Amino acid sequence: MGKVVLAYSGGLDTSVAIRWIGEKYGLEVIALTVDIGVEKDFASIKERALNAGAIKSIVLDAKEQFVKYFVFPALKADAIYEGNYPLATALGRPLIAKLLVDTAHQEGASAVAHGCTGKDNDQVRFDVSVAALDPELEIIAPAREWGMTREQEIAYAQRHALPIAVTSESPYSIDANLWGRSIECGVLEDPWIEPPEEVFAWTRSVNDAPDKPRYVEIGFDKGIPVSLNGEEMGGVSLINELNSLAGEHGVGRIDHVENRLVGIKSREVYEAPAATVLLKAHRALEDMTLSKGQLRFKERVAQEYADLIYNGLWYSALHQDLATYVESTQRFVTGTVRLKLFKGNCTVVGRKSPKSLYSLSLATYDKGDIFDQSASPGFIHIWGLPIRTQAQIQGQPEIGEADK
Ligand code: ARG
Repeated sequence: MGKVVLAYSGGLDTSVAIRWIGEKYGLEVIALTVDIGVEKDFASIKERALNAGAIKSIVLDAKEQFVKYFVFPALKADAIYEGNYPLATALGRPLIAKLLVDTAHQEGASAVAHGCTGKDNDQVRFDVSVAALDPELEIIAPAREWGMTREQEIAYAQRHALPIAVTSESPYSIDANLWGRSIECGVLEDPWIEPPEEVFAWTRSVNDAPDKPRYVEIGFDKGIPVSLNGEEMGGVSLINELNSLAGEHGVGRIDHVENRLVGIKSREVYEAPAATVLLKAHRALEDMTLSKGQLRFKERVAQEYADLIYNGLWYSALHQDLATYVESTQRFVTGTVRLKLFKGNCTVVGRKSPKSLYSLSLATYDKGDIFDQSASPGFIHIWGLPIRTQAQIQGQPEIGEADK
């Protein structure tokens, strides 16, 4: 009998998928659950997979890999999709795809499977990544093929006595990892409705947030956050710690109507406390250590970078090239940023760097000024030359002409 490795979350879709794949494809299912940073009861997920009919259940802790190879590169790039979404889900997929492929090779499986539907971005990310890593593997996406509604899935699960907890299934579709939590469906499908408090799990509402601000200091080394409040910390702990610190103050709630790759606009709510703080802090340090030209160009790269993460192109050569550029920009992005967390806001209030381009003696209006003001008229004379020339020859439109 052939084997397939299924990305297994423990939820309804993937539990039904175990049984369905056996029936439809006659393959034995190995369930693979990847831990990229959400506290879950992995022992009972394992048990559920086996009870649903998997021949083997594997849980892999990939938190370190996730942070080092996916989250931090995206942070260095300042990757934020459409100005809002720090890309947590989108960053997790290529790593899970890689582990599916590795596990398929280890287990001698000829196929991999995932629980995405035909409308998701995630199906694209999985399929494109798997094919880039091993084009020989077959890809099965049961939820894209079976055409069952949720009710039908539940009936199917009951008919086959599959171990699902229907009552505890929420009306929302949730995906979470260290970099953030994504919530969609239910009442959120109406973009006019304010997200109800119940969709949030990592962040307090502003009403309940403490009345006193909390200050945090993030230390960066070449674009990577390495310390929190002066204490050196590994990436996973630092992100975890910041998620709870910033979440406590209601920082990191995002409500976004976004453009999916498959052409649909969808309303998604995110909680990303650590990502919000770190992205802000990182940008603030870049403001100190990169030139105007570098900053401007990098902003364009950031948009491209975010798009390619969102669009499932992590394993593209374009990504390698952009990542190399981004890495080069980070060589002096070292220093400390101080932020204030207060009532849902995260504000940069201080920054310092041994490689800072900020020069007090150039900026100051007080004593100690070394800027040569007598050089300015000459500079302005030449700077304004083309505009003067043009104005003399072609004149200026009259102000207020439009009102006549
Ligand atoms: N819209 C986001 C993305 O495509 C998140 C999707 C995650 N899914 C969820 N169940 N909320 O990356």
